[in-house]
Order: sequence, then C-alpha cells, then structure tokens
Amino acid sequence: MEAIVVDDIHFSYNGVPVLKGVSFTIKMGQVVAIMGENGAGKTTLIKHFIGLLKPDVGRVLVFGTDTREASVAQLAKRVGIVFQNPDHQLFAESVEEEIFFTLENMGYTLSEAKAICDTILKTFELDRYRNRSPYSLSIGERKRLTIAAVLCYNPDVVVLDEPTAGQDYYNKSKLSRLITQLKRQGRGVVVVTHDVEFAAQTVERVILVANGQVIQDGPAQDILTDAALLQKARLLPPQIPVAASKLMANGIRLSAKPLLAGGLYTMLVEMFNHSG
Ligand SMILES: Nc1ncnc2c1ncn2[C@@H]1O[C@H](COP(=O)(O)OP(=O)(O)O)[C@@H](O)[C@H]1O
Ligand SMILES: [Mg+2]
Repeated sequence: MEAIVVDDIHFSYNGVPVLKGVSFTIKMGQVVAIMGENGAGKTTLIKHFIGLLKPDVGRVLVFGTDTREASVAQLAKRVGIVFQNPDHQLFAESVEEEIFFTLENMGYTLSEAKAICDTILKTFELDRYRNRSPYSLSIGERKRLTIAAVLCYNPDVVVLDEPTAGQDYYNKSKLSRLITQLKRQGRGVVVVTHDVEFAAQTVERVILVANGQVIQDGPAQDILTDAALLQKARLLPPQIPVAASKLMANGIRLSAKPLLAGGLYTMLVEMFNHSG
C-alpha cells in the first residue's frame, strides 16, 4: 500500500529554491533512509509529509489525500514525525505529561493513556524520569522522549529526523531493533540520517538527496557500497565497504560487495575454505 506519494514537488523559501522536482513513494512495511549533506533539503522535504509545508508545484499524497486538502493534525495522526531538535517538540512540565498530553490529543481515554504511558516509558528506559522536567534530561534522553511521544499513538508511518544524534552505541542498536519491529508490524518508517553505519544496519532502501533533487533511489546494499555515488551526496561509505575495497585493491577477490561485517566474514571464510 502506498503511504506517501511525493509527486514532482518544487519548494522555495522566499524565492530561494530548495526542492527542485522531487518524486518518490513510501510504502507500508518499508524502512527507508533519506540521506544527503547538511542543507540538502531533507527536513524541508519531510515537513511536506504532514502539510507543515505545501509544495509550490507538484503534490504530496498521504494515504491518497492531497496534503492541501487536510489539516496538519489529521495528517499527523497517520504520519508521526520526530523532528531533529527535541526542544522544538517538547512542551510539558514532566516526562509523563509529555506522553499523556499527546495521547489525550489523539483521543485516548485516561486509563488507556496510563497503560500506554507506563509501557512506552519502560521501552525507552525513561520511567525513572517520569516526574522530571523534560528540560532536565540529557539531549539523548530528550530525543528518546520525543520518539516515545510519537510512537505512543501508533501512527501508520513513523518519520525520524536524525534519530541517532546524541545517542550512544547501546541506544542506537536499540533504536535499530525498534525500527525493525515497526516494519514487522507493517508500518512505514522513514529515517533522515547522515549516519551511514546506522543506515547500513537498519534500512533496506536509500533515497539519496543532493542539491534539492533525488540523485539515486534504490536498495541500501547497492547505494551504501558505492563510494563514488555517496561522494556526490558528500557522504563517506560505511567501514565494511571501505575494508572490502581495500581487500580487493590488494588482490583479495570477494564474490560481492559486503555491506555488513557478517557478509564480509562469510565471504572470507568461504575463500579460506576453498583455498585450504
Ligand atoms: N525556515 C527557513 N527559511 C529559509 N530558509 C530555510 C528555512 N529552513 C531551511 N532553509 C534553508 O533550506 C535549505 C535546506 O534546509 P533543510 O531542509 O533544513 O536541509 P537538511 O535537513 O537537508 O539539512 C538550507 O539552505 C536552509 O538554510
Ligand atoms: Mg535537517
């Protein structure tokens, strides 16, 4: 099912063009990364998903509805966006209220909201801070709280803008597993990120954006192992593809381009078994 259709959109801020003819489709059950350098237009693009910005030319359809024909609140029920800067999204006096207010807005009853709040705060390891002000949390904790405040109401599509910023290795792996779980539930997930290692572990498809246009859209396995292509979006390839090219340059013939450590390991073990 097509969740979001971006159909040849153009957008300018005060006459300065930022999006210059962008098209793609996000389907349910897909985990997609939008990647590209700072200022490429990624955040501007995802703001179009709930009608916070409307295209000057072209259209955006959310489950078949043109974003010009629905309110931001209606669209946000189906597409939950976690913005880059948590401080622009947090407003309550306590961690617990942050979740409560969101659920109340989304029409949940008090007892439903209590149960969901308990579960989600545990999932994000924020339950011990429940009575604290969101502003007393670390940046990584605040980011986790904004993610929790979107996931709590079960939007069909979850959009995460730079979710790994300020997160340590442990929380990044947890986030990666959580995204996999959302996919298994059949939801759509869009991750805006510079973090090529996180993308390699987490997403199946990459939309590469440079200079307000999509320069490539395809399987993560192909895009994240193509150093020349990544360079055009000013991204460095992940470590494993770099290691693989070094091995190839030194005469070690790998049967394919590995993206993750497991893939490289399997290829090397097979080679040694054949040569031994
Ligand atoms: N509210 C705004 N008003 C004017 N220009 C903006 C605004 N927001 C972003 N821009 C500009 O639009 C371009 C794309 O920004 P953005 O979408 O935030 O990029 P990214 O998320 O890829 O880093 C940048 O040149 C940025 O300076
Ligand atoms: Mg951005």
